[in-house]
Amino acid sequence: MDARVNRPVPPPVRPIGVRIAGTGSCLPAKVLTNADLEKVMDTSNDWIVQRTGIRTRHITDRQAGESVKDLAVAALRAALSDAGLTAKDLDLILMATMTPEMECPASACIVSQMVGAGHAGAMDLNAACSGFVFGMNIAHDLIRGGTYRTIGLIGADTLSRLMDYSNAGRSTAIIFGDGAGAAILRATDDTSKGILAQSMHADGEGWKDIYVPHTDHDFPAGTPPDRSKCGYVQMNGSSVFKFAVGTFPDLIQETLDKAGLKASDVDMFVCHQSNQRILHAARDRFGLPEDKLYINIDRVGNTVGASVPLCLDELRKSGRIRDGHLVMFVAFGGGLTWGSSLWRV
Ligand code: COA
Repeated sequence: MDARVNRPVPPPVRPIGVRIAGTGSCLPAKVLTNADLEKVMDTSNDWIVQRTGIRTRHITDRQAGESVKDLAVAALRAALSDAGLTAKDLDLILMATMTPEMECPASACIVSQMVGAGHAGAMDLNAACSGFVFGMNIAHDLIRGGTYRTIGLIGADTLSRLMDYSNAGRSTAIIFGDGAGAAILRATDDTSKGILAQSMHADGEGWKDIYVPHTDHDFPAGTPPDRSKCGYVQMNGSSVFKFAVGTFPDLIQETLDKAGLKASDVDMFVCHQSNQRILHAARDRFGLPEDKLYINIDRVGNTVGASVPLCLDELRKSGRIRDGHLVMFVAFGGGLTWGSSLWRV
């Protein structure tokens, strides 16, 4: 018998829109300035500002027990409140992080318990700095598929716990900061809202450009194992820089092409805050006015998974992203990974 004949007829698909119903963010109270770094390593405010654009970053107070879950919970609560919802409304919590509380359980489960999300699904995803943008694409498509209605998406990281704040780690420790951002993505009957084009890419060949070794076996071939580096982020800064300067514009162009749009059609570019020079290069390549590509790296540094949602929350709260705007989210990071998400919000 032809199995196709007896296949049940699927119900007609009702188009579903997806909106960003609320956003929230949280930065730890403790601020680490360039002057603070000058005291513990051979660096200078001028060098850091010139090479990265960063002046301050926030870091968790680990001695006081502050950790990634606390930032994530605060960001998610703020996003729920902004959306006029409670944790009980969530069908799923996704947390993009490369610095989870523990290896098991997923940090999203701890967050779920802390906010009282009951039996909503919860899991982490790790795509380093691309995590939140990948999460937007995944959460959006789960909602558009019709099975999930409300998803809490968090991007939270505390890279400060993987930093060597000494001369040996100076090219990395100056860049990263801690933080969390969250968005509530929700089904809507307004089908104009949601993703117009998206992409998710990875090149595993580039894993050696950013990694955190824990044993001798974790060092790439050709790099002598060094126990003093274990537990700290190892980054080939110049290689990542070259990758990012080339990839960012290509990613933006690829996403515009998929949607059949021009850069000038987009109301706001929300880009991962990796280095101010990389962001300026992308802005110049597309001839974008300053106010269309948001930059907050000077205040918060590179907050990895929190970078994009922190920008999103600041832009919504200040009214620079408004209902109906066309917004492109772009990120790249360890993996190497890179991805985009172009939304009508
Ligand atoms: N202060 C002062 N000097 C420093 C320093 C610091 N914090 N860190 C490195 N240097 C020195 C180096 O030792 C080197 O000195 P040398 O020429 O005597 O050997 C010199 O500055 C240049 O080092 P280099 O690593 O080539 O600097 P750079 O211009 O590439 O800048 C980064 C370093 C890390 C700022 C830059 O490579 C970068 O931003 N890369 C992208 C990183 C990124 O985006 N990562 C996140 C991915 S999500």
